[in-house]
Amino acid sequence: MDSKIIRPATKALRGEIVIPGDKSVSHRAVMFSALGTTPVHITNFLPSADCLSTVGVMRALGAKVDILGDTELVVQGNGLHGLQEPETVLDAGNSGTTLRLMMGMLAPQRFMSVFTGDSSLHKRPMGRVINPLRKMGANIFARGENTKLPIAIIPPKEPLQGFTYDMPVASAQVKSAVLLAGLFARGNTTVVEPYPSRNHTELMLEAFGVNLEYDGNSITVEPPETMTAPEELVVPGDISSAAFWMVAASIIPGSELLLKNVGVNDTRTGIIDVMKAMGADVAMLNKRKSGGEPVADIRVRHARLHGTSFGADIIPRLVDEIPVIAVAAMFAEGDTIITGAGELRVKETDRLEAICAQFGKLGGVIDGQEDGLVIHGGSVPVNGECFSHDDHRMAMSLAIAGMAGAGVTIVNPDCIAISYPGFYDELDNLLNK
Ligand code: S3P
Repeated sequence: MDSKIIRPATKALRGEIVIPGDKSVSHRAVMFSALGTTPVHITNFLPSADCLSTVGVMRALGAKVDILGDTELVVQGNGLHGLQEPETVLDAGNSGTTLRLMMGMLAPQRFMSVFTGDSSLHKRPMGRVINPLRKMGANIFARGENTKLPIAIIPPKEPLQGFTYDMPVASAQVKSAVLLAGLFARGNTTVVEPYPSRNHTELMLEAFGVNLEYDGNSITVEPPETMTAPEELVVPGDISSAAFWMVAASIIPGSELLLKNVGVNDTRTGIIDVMKAMGADVAMLNKRKSGGEPVADIRVRHARLHGTSFGADIIPRLVDEIPVIAVAAMFAEGDTIITGAGELRVKETDRLEAICAQFGKLGGVIDGQEDGLVIHGGSVPVNGECFSHDDHRMAMSLAIAGMAGAGVTIVNPDCIAISYPGFYDELDNLLNK
């Protein structure tokens, strides 16, 4: 599809949406299961392009992955030291998570591997993972003075050496890469985070019997003898996908949506904190545990939103939600000021630039800053043709802005398949109810 027309909602959004599986947890479920020796039954897996990149990579490394249904897999590995040399170049596609986490897992191995990916991934910074892994003794070579794809990992002469890494960026991907390398290192490996980022790696490693120690902002992994795979891993719904509906229901008058089975791990709920600070009517109902992660049903009702300010300390807890928070801010009263968000410049696209360029065509009045945005609320919506920048979260945020405003034509809309393949169907269902 070259473009997708989203019409303005003519009535309130009502009903229930079952939120598909979490992207971060789905990746990790497949990767870590490949380090066990017994089959792991993964349910509510997210069958999106990014997670399927991970499936392809793990199969190339010798893991057995049986796809039982759309959201159900069985993964069987060959043990902690059982990954096999891939016969082909490993393709991470658009997925930073696949590439960065797997660099950590492969840097210590006694075989060679080579990574590629799509044009977006070729532009993204990989030095942030390569540098700490090299400090551990890894032999990694990459284009652009060891910063960019393609990347070659050569077996290290000696086993990697555990160390303490003070992370300059708050990034769950960097943290995870170093911890995964630490599984195979000599001695313990510690990462120190500037601010807490998503902790799905830590929770799932513990579910596989790995011993982790926490001290303030630092996490230490002790290299295990083996990984003990659980029989079942249940993936919670993705709060980053729920975020689009949270904002839509908040800004379209009369709406009330119940978003079912959403993962509400504290390291991911920054969107709820910010929406509440803007005056949103968001409630977590039926809070429970599922597969070691907290989940809830989230009820969202329309409310009059006002501007807010937030900065670096909360960014890792809502890093992927900033495009859709910008949509909420356009429809709010007063200004919303976002600082400390320079990481958005190195996502699937430069999201700060994309937000300013594209939302402006829909009536948004937004000032881009080096590391943030000032979004002037109360904008008058206009219909426009906007480019997705081939970025899934930009495409979905544009769809919400168009649906709540005067409509939008999204150019290159299919990139939503990276994280939420059913998004447009869900949107059509809501509009036609
Ligand atoms: C992810 C971490 C975040 C996030 C990405 C998924 C993960 O990236 O933006 O979509 O699964 O660990 P950073 O670690 O680069 O912030």
